[in-house]
Amino acid sequence: MKLMVIGCGGVATVAIHKCYENPVFTEILVASRTKSKCDALAEKLRSRTKAVITTATVNADRVESLTELMNKFKPHTVLNVALPYQDLTIMDACLECGANYVDTANYEAENTDDPEWRAIYEKRCKEKGFTALFDYSWQWAYQDKFKAAGLTALLGTGFDPGVTSVYTAYALKHYFDEIHYIDILDCNGGDHGYPFATNFNPEINLREVSSNGSYWEEGHWVETKPMEIKREYDFDGVGMKDMYLLHHEEIESLAKNIPNVKRIRFFMTFGQSYLTHMNCLQNVGMLGTAPVQFEGREIVPIKFLKALLPDPASLGPRTVGKTNIGCIFRGIKDGKERNIYIYNVCDHQECYKETGAQAVSYTTGVPAMIGTSMIASGTWSGAGVFNVEEFDPDPYMEALNKYGLPWQVNENPVLVD
Ligand SMILES: NC(=O)c1ccc[n+]([C@@H]2O[C@H](COP(=O)([O-])OP(=O)(O)OC[C@H]3O[C@@H](n4cnc5c(N)ncnc54)[C@H](OP(=O)(O)O)[C@@H]3O)[C@@H](O)[C@H]2O)c1
Repeated sequence: MKLMVIGCGGVATVAIHKCYENPVFTEILVASRTKSKCDALAEKLRSRTKAVITTATVNADRVESLTELMNKFKPHTVLNVALPYQDLTIMDACLECGANYVDTANYEAENTDDPEWRAIYEKRCKEKGFTALFDYSWQWAYQDKFKAAGLTALLGTGFDPGVTSVYTAYALKHYFDEIHYIDILDCNGGDHGYPFATNFNPEINLREVSSNGSYWEEGHWVETKPMEIKREYDFDGVGMKDMYLLHHEEIESLAKNIPNVKRIRFFMTFGQSYLTHMNCLQNVGMLGTAPVQFEGREIVPIKFLKALLPDPASLGPRTVGKTNIGCIFRGIKDGKERNIYIYNVCDHQECYKETGAQAVSYTTGVPAMIGTSMIASGTWSGAGVFNVEEFDPDPYMEALNKYGLPWQVNENPVLVD
């Protein structure tokens, strides 16, 4: 089966490593903005696989650049591990060229000051009640087009969203008649030794963390100030950590797809030093996305900041410690209350030894490959736009164990108040 991977950053590196271990992928084209990165990766991996690998330059902001390449390569499926800014152009190109589409993050506009985008965004904030700059409406709007084309678009197959959503489908299938409360806990106990760095793309990461939090309760969104809700949790493999409630994209799709759910929250751990740096950068305007004039030229503050910060891809060799990501579910089985916690513990150094990337890229890249393989092998199929929790979770859960993200179920977890 022919796979085209778009992007060659941290997540792509792991996803491509893992594609090479899966015989369903027989031909892989790695296409990104900087072809030299694709060439270097292909060179490193060529001896490890029977799959034929080629590389190309592509500008994924332009549909024509994508379709030119797709018309030549004729991929069965396209895995988008570039940035969320490119989701819609890549979906358009897939429709034009008859390819299935897979990604790990929902659409986000690159220029949030664009008046046309802002008008739609402000209407959505009023109607839906949350102010995050990203949401699923843009991609769910492609439902009829993918249906009519007989193609599948699989949205959000990273860890969160992705594995957390599959954990939810699995819990509902095997442990509950109804799930009422979902707490998604994302803990990174890794230490890279820098005073400040982000574990994945700084623009995407800092925007997410500095925005208002929100959670889903009794059929509507409740919005909080950034970092307003804090809890402590003792994570298996990591220990006690502070965690903060954030808005996160899988809350939106789980609220739609999990019947009877009463509340969905998402918590992520942050150290005090990270938060102090981030607040300071925000207060001085360094997280801004609108261009400013500097010495006669335009610069975008957050892009300039990205150039100063360590490249997330370079954190691998320095990062030690573990991640622990999972979901605590509370609900009803056979008329009785039940609580379970499904989670994965991943070691940064082990990930680095295997793929050259740290655990944050690893925990996203492995499920990116697994979701793509579900579509490539026909294990998951259907025409239209889907989130991962809409399919049978069992083959995906099996693949997580096989490809490096084994999970555990704790049937008596400590709950989050
Ligand atoms: N669901 C999850 O759990 C989860 C977790 C983490 C990340 N993610 C998502 O995973 C994706 C990749 O993250 P990452 O950390 O790997 O980011 P990254 O290291 O910044 O890599 C992004 C890659 O996309 C390429 N790219 C950017 N703009 C492009 C364009 N216009 N045309 C072609 N290629 C382009 C970049 O090219 P250059 O090399 O030229 O810069 C780079 O190779 C993001 O969408 C992120 O939001 C999801």
